[in-house]
Amino acid sequence: MATIVRLPGLTDAHVHLRSPGGEHKEDFITGTAAALAGGFTRLLAMPNTQPPLVTLERWLAAQERADHEARCDVHLLAGAAPEHLAALPALGQRAVGLKLYMDETYGPLRMTALPHLAATFDGWPQARPIAVHAEGASVAAAIGLAAACGRAVHICHVSRRAEVELIAKARAQGLPVTCEVTPHHLFLTADDAARLGPWADMRPTLGSADDQAALWAALGQTIDCVATDHAPHTPAEKRGANPPPGVPGLETALPLLLDAVHDGRLTLERLVALLDTNPRRIYGLPAQHESWIEVDLAARHTLANECLYTKCGWTPFAGRPVVGRLLRVCLRGRLLVDDGRVLDYQEE
Ligand code: NCD
Ligand code: ZN
Ligand code: ZN
Ligand code: ZN
Repeated sequence: MATIVRLPGLTDAHVHLRSPGGEHKEDFITGTAAALAGGFTRLLAMPNTQPPLVTLERWLAAQERADHEARCDVHLLAGAAPEHLAALPALGQRAVGLKLYMDETYGPLRMTALPHLAATFDGWPQARPIAVHAEGASVAAAIGLAAACGRAVHICHVSRRAEVELIAKARAQGLPVTCEVTPHHLFLTADDAARLGPWADMRPTLGSADDQAALWAALGQTIDCVATDHAPHTPAEKRGANPPPGVPGLETALPLLLDAVHDGRLTLERLVALLDTNPRRIYGLPAQHESWIEVDLAARHTLANECLYTKCGWTPFAGRPVVGRLLRVCLRGRLLVDDGRVLDYQEE
């Protein structure tokens, strides 16, 4: 039986590439090398940079830099900030989507006051998604705002059974609510957080085994996409007194999901929907021409810190054995990864 199969280049709808201002954690070069090594040919990057991408000037400068430095396609989201509501119409003409932070997480962006939220949901163009960091009751607030303003909303990194159940109910009512889940919420629980400490601390935090079961059951139904929330921080920062939340994910997502395919928990067809078709549909992005990845469904290996391209150099999944490996990546007719290694790449 042939174990090598070709899939479309994957799209990760939620990453942090840290440029500008956080280039000691990651930059467009290292982050997109990590993407390619993980089978992703397109990234949607978040605006919680330093400074955050909340004005047209800042967003244009960052997108320009991404276009020059990135080894795969990168689309930057704009950020919503209470003091920059006036920038939204111009940003709405350019950015692939808007990111709104309703709860506490890494970075300075936050929006909690109803007048600001209502103005944002009213002011952002219908054709471009609003993606929301919302946890618990904030998920209900985001759905309510979208429903009242007659527009769609995308809920980032769902992590709890109650969130998934509420989104399922909203969709049953015909409301245009979409959502994504991270690999770490699918493959780790609060027990792992207790074992790994800061190395498995992120927002939303890891849930219970029951939450995890609800996420798996909703995968490909209520949950539209797997998005890594690749959120690199340096080992020194993670070991420090105030470790920032967030874990890298670009290079481990595909092997973990291929291993789930091997275990019969996921079909390849659904994997492609979660990592290609659905994120492209939500953000209105076309397929990339002459672009594909090749994976070996039977290759056994162990996830490790040593062979990573991400600048942060670690993964919470180090030591985990998996079945399924990325072999090659081709983007618009150019072979960029062979035998799992990024070609023409100078490692530091
Ligand atoms: C993210 C980061 O580090 O930028 N951290 C995280 O824990 N997920 C921010 C975010 O996505 O909420
Ligand atoms: Zn978030
Ligand atoms: Zn994030
Ligand atoms: Zn397995």
